[in-house]
Order: sequence, then C-alpha cells, then structure tokens
Amino acid sequence: MDLKSIENIVSLCKRRGFIFQSSEIYGGLGSTWDYGPYGVEMKQKIKDFWWHDVVTSRENVVGMDAAILMHPKTWEASGHVSNFHDPLVDCKNCKARYRADHVDLNKPCERCGKKDWTEPRQFNLMFKTAIGPVEDSGEITYLRPETAQGIFVNFMNVQGTSRQKLPFGIAQLGKAFRNEITTGNFLFRTREFEQMELEFFIHPGENEKWLDYWCEERLNWFKKLGINPEKLRLRPHDKDELAHYSTACFDVEYEFPFGWSELEGIADRGTFDLDQHNEYSGKKQQYFDPQTNERIIPAVVESSAGVDRTFLTCLVDAYCEEEVRDKKRIVLKLDPKIAPITCAVLPLVKKDGLPEIAQKIVEDIRTKYSAFFDQGGSIGRRYRRQDEAGTPYGVTVDHQTTEDGTVTLRDRDTMDQVRISTDNILSELQSRIQ
Ligand code: GAP
Repeated sequence: MDLKSIENIVSLCKRRGFIFQSSEIYGGLGSTWDYGPYGVEMKQKIKDFWWHDVVTSRENVVGMDAAILMHPKTWEASGHVSNFHDPLVDCKNCKARYRADHVDLNKPCERCGKKDWTEPRQFNLMFKTAIGPVEDSGEITYLRPETAQGIFVNFMNVQGTSRQKLPFGIAQLGKAFRNEITTGNFLFRTREFEQMELEFFIHPGENEKWLDYWCEERLNWFKKLGINPEKLRLRPHDKDELAHYSTACFDVEYEFPFGWSELEGIADRGTFDLDQHNEYSGKKQQYFDPQTNERIIPAVVESSAGVDRTFLTCLVDAYCEEEVRDKKRIVLKLDPKIAPITCAVLPLVKKDGLPEIAQKIVEDIRTKYSAFFDQGGSIGRRYRRQDEAGTPYGVTVDHQTTEDGTVTLRDRDTMDQVRISTDNILSELQSRIQ
C-alpha cells in the first residue's frame, strides 16, 4: 500500500459516510474530523471491544469517566504546564510554523524558499480556556491533554469505594486535546481525539513484570481486532524519547503507508503522578496494604491507546482494491465485530412481496446485529456499495425464497454464496462472527 492509498481512504470515508471534514461548509477546521453514521458505528464497536477486554472481562479493573475540565493545579502537578512542550520555529517571511526538530534550520523554508527563521522557542501543547463569564478575570484552566490525570486525582475515591486491592486498574475512555504544531495523515495526528487509558496500580518493585504483562495483552488486543500481525510490533523507547513521567516505555506500532508509527504507549510511570498529587494537593495519596499493615504510594503501569488512530489503522489494514471480472472492486475487509453494518439484506427485485420478506429479516437480525435494507439499483451495484462499507455478510431474498423459505448468504471477502433457511440466518451469522 502506498501513500496515495491514504487519499483513497479519505475519499472512501467521505463517499460512504465514515468521516467528514469538520465544519466543511465553512471550509473546514485544520485537523479536526467528524464521524458520520458508519464511522460512529465502527468507532463505538472499537471502544466497546476495548472496554470489554480491559474492564468488563477483568475482576481487577474498574472504569470511570472524569470531567474534561479539571482544576488547573492538576496540570502543574502532572508536569504538563512546565514540560508538555514542542520546540517551534516560524518562517519570518511566509509565517509558516514548524516543529524545530522536524526541519533543517540550515535550509530554506520549504513553503516560500526563503531562509529567515525565528529562534526556536517552546510551545505548550495544552489548549487554554477561562472558567467564568469574564475572560480576563476568569480562572485559567486547560482542556485535558490526556485522560490519565482524571484517574490519578480520583485514585483515593475509586480505591476506597471499589475496595480493590493491589494490583488493580482504573480505566477511562474519553476526549483529549492537544494544540499540535504539525498534524496530518488524516486521523493520525489531530487536535481533538479520544484515548483509551488504563492506569494499573501495583506494588513498587513489580514494575517490570507488569510492564511485560500489559505489553503482551495490548499487542494481542490489536491482533484480536483483526489487524495483520505482521504489521504490528512493540518498540522500546530510547532514553531520550521518554515522556517526563516515565522511566520505561514500549510503543505498539503499525506499519502505515507513511512508515512505522505509534498506536499506543505502555509506560512505567512509577509513583510519579501520585507523588506529585500528594505534594500539590496536600492530601495523602496512599494505599493501605493489609498484608504488611503499611501505607504505600503504589507504582503505575499505564496503557494508553488512541481511538482515532486505532480506527485509522483498521481502515488502512482492511482497504483492498481487487480485479473481479475485469472490474475494480474496492473492499474493506474489516473484522466482522467492528464493521458498521454486520449484514445487508437485499430483495432481488422491488416487487412480488420480496421487499416485505427482506424487511422482516432485517428486523430479526437487528435483535442482535446491525442490519441494513437496500433495494435501490442492480444487485451487483448494491453488493459493491456494501463491500466498500465493509459489510461482511449479505442476504439476498429472491423468488425461491417465496417457494421454500431459503435465501442466499454472501461472504464479502470470498464472494461465495450459500443457500440457507431464513430461520437459520441469525445462528449462521453467530457461528461466523467470533
Ligand atoms: N497518558 C499517556 C499519553 O497520553 P501519549 O503517547 O502522549 O501518552 C497516547 O498518547 C496515545 O494517544 C498515542 O499512542 C496515540 O494513539 C494517541 N494520541 C496522542 N496524541 C494524539 C493526536 N494528536 N492525535 C491522535 N491521537 C493521539
């Protein structure tokens, strides 16, 4: 897959209602995107799959949902006010802005060809906002740049009420905001995005064991999402890449058309965050260990994945162009559990009672899976539309259905069709979807 394929994916996303440019009628807003009907279905399925895998299926992980706006001291304590910077330079001639570590300052600006740079300066990535009606006198706070701090500041509340014992995790899924200097590659780096984060609290000293454990769990999760394992890898961070809060970190990376890039970071955050909140709030952030009768500050291993990056990865990984009977077929070979529509139901013609039978089948399927009724256009064209939307199964109702109650069930990837009884559609779908 080459770089052009990202453009093909952007246009498929628009054509089929996965993703639209934000505020498109006003010319769009840089690096912000809106999810349309198919996009939001698929994104929800990815989030549900994560929540089930990380929270619901585990006895020692609980969830929470903190406010996006937090007390400004949170961000002083977390180190984001003083450390969450990128170095920035401006071209004095054309005013283009770049990350200083992404350009060669000995060369001219690639936009205007002049060499007239400002001195590099640090640019804080947090979006500032004021609380209260009067902007000047309002209290300044920030849109959260990570969901993790909402978990740390609630550590005592959640541990106290859930009565979890170490090791245990608190998970959260929600929006985060960063005023990124360089954005791009569609959904890969945006200014508003969603994170799926787990803070796993452990006895200090057990960091390495749990870092290994979560690296393996999380890599497997991406594989279970149907992503090609050969395009996934774990990469350890070099010392100079580590964030201000971590002492060791692995990235789960995917081989995109633009190179290997991060989907998730799994980091040893040690006791950094709870230590900081302990100091800045003056409220003890401690865990009473019933085995030793001691109060300790737990260490933390974090798993932090981007929803939108995962979504993009699923699309890139699933996108295929094939020749079928001398015609190009574009198909999204998405794993059935995250496809926006699980099954399309198509009456062969718009008469002879076939649409009514098809509608009844759609209602039955909808008790368990997402289904879509489509009677517009030739059957071939309807299948192509569903192939592009990633719909793994198609049921066709034809005249034989009125005689013996059978339909054809088509597989998106092989295009094979089998005849099955209408009564068996749900069980057949169930057996094909893990
Ligand atoms: N709490 C740790 C943390 O936020 P991070 O490596 O800065 O760590 C974690 O971010 C994940 O969030 C990334 O691996 C990526 O998937 C996602 N992410 C971060 N910045 C993003 C951006 N500007 N656009 C889209 N996703 C982003």
